[in-house]
Amino acid sequence: MKIGFIGGGTMGEAIIKSLLAKGAAKPGDIAVSDISQPRRDILKKTYGVKATADNREAVKDAEVVVLAVKPQELSKVLGGLKGLSSQQLVLSIVAGATLGSISQGLNHSCLVRAMPNMPAQIGEGITVWTATAEVNQKQRDMAQSILVALGKEIYASGEKYIDMATALSGSGPAYVFLIIESLVDAGVHIGLPRDMAEKLVVQTVLGSARAVEAMGKHPAELKNMVTSPGGTTTDGLLQLETGGLRSLLLQTVIAAYNKAKALGAK
Ligand SMILES: NC(=O)c1ccc[n+]([C@@H]2O[C@H](COP(=O)([O-])OP(=O)(O)OC[C@H]3O[C@@H](n4cnc5c(N)ncnc54)[C@H](OP(=O)(O)O)[C@@H]3O)[C@@H](O)[C@H]2O)c1
Repeated sequence: MKIGFIGGGTMGEAIIKSLLAKGAAKPGDIAVSDISQPRRDILKKTYGVKATADNREAVKDAEVVVLAVKPQELSKVLGGLKGLSSQQLVLSIVAGATLGSISQGLNHSCLVRAMPNMPAQIGEGITVWTATAEVNQKQRDMAQSILVALGKEIYASGEKYIDMATALSGSGPAYVFLIIESLVDAGVHIGLPRDMAEKLVVQTVLGSARAVEAMGKHPAELKNMVTSPGGTTTDGLLQLETGGLRSLLLQTVIAAYNKAKALGAK
C-alpha cells in the first residue's frame, strides 16, 4: 500500500512509526511532505521514508493520501492538492474538518474522515471513522489498516458520530488527565510523597479501566464490589455525588459536543 502523508508532525510520525513497526508498510511505500526542513530530516533519517517539501510530490503515487496538518493549515493544503485521481483515497485526521468541506476544497469525493485521540501517539488511542459512498471495500480495508496503527478503531455509518466522538473520546483524555492531576494533588494533600501518589493514581485508573474491559460487568456493579457498608469508599463516594460529578460530566460532554457541531458548521 503506497501512502502519502501531508504533514509529518506528531500524528503523521505516530502513524508512520507504527505502520513500519507492525510491517503494515515498507519505508519505500511511504512519502511524507512537511514544510519544516528539520521535520523532513528527522523523518528521513529515522524511518527511511521519502520526505519532501512538495505536497503534490508526496501524493503522486499514493493509493492513500493522509491529511495530518493542523486545521488552520487545511484549506491552503486542499487548494494545492486539487486534481487527485478518483482512485486515490483521502484519509483526513484533521479535527473539525467535515467531509463536505474536504470534498469541496479538493474537488474529490473518495474520502475517509477519522477522529483519533491523543493516546494514539503511543498506539493506545481510539479512532472513530466514516467514509463517503465512493470509498470501496478495498479502500476501507486500507483505511482501517492505517488507523489500527493508532490503537483501536470503530467504523461509524454516519458523520454525525464523529462530532459525538470528538466530545467523548477526542476531548476525553483531557478530562481524564484533569482527574488524574486532581487525585495526585489530593494524595499529596493527605501526606503521600508526590511520586508515590502519581504511581498509585495512574495504576488505579489503568487497572480500573482494564477491569471494566476484562470482567464484563457494569461499572456500577464493580463500584459496589469496592464499597463495603460503612467503609471508607462510601464516605468518598458521598462527596462525589454531593458535588454533582455525574451531572458535571454529562454537562461537560454536552458542551464539547455543541462546540464540535458549531465548529463543523463554520
Ligand atoms: N495530536 C493529537 O493527539 C491529535 C488527536 C486527534 C486529531 N489530531 C489531528 O491531527 C492533525 C495533526 O496534528 P498534529 O498534532 O500531528 O500536528 P503537528 O504536530 O503540528 O503536525 C503537523 C505538521 O504539518 C506541517 N505543516 C504545516 N503546514 C503544512 C503544509 N502546508 N504542508 C505540509 N506540511 C505542513 C507542520 O509543520 P510546522 O510545525 O513547521 O508548521 C507539522 O510538522 C490535526 O489536524 C489534529 O486536529 C491530532
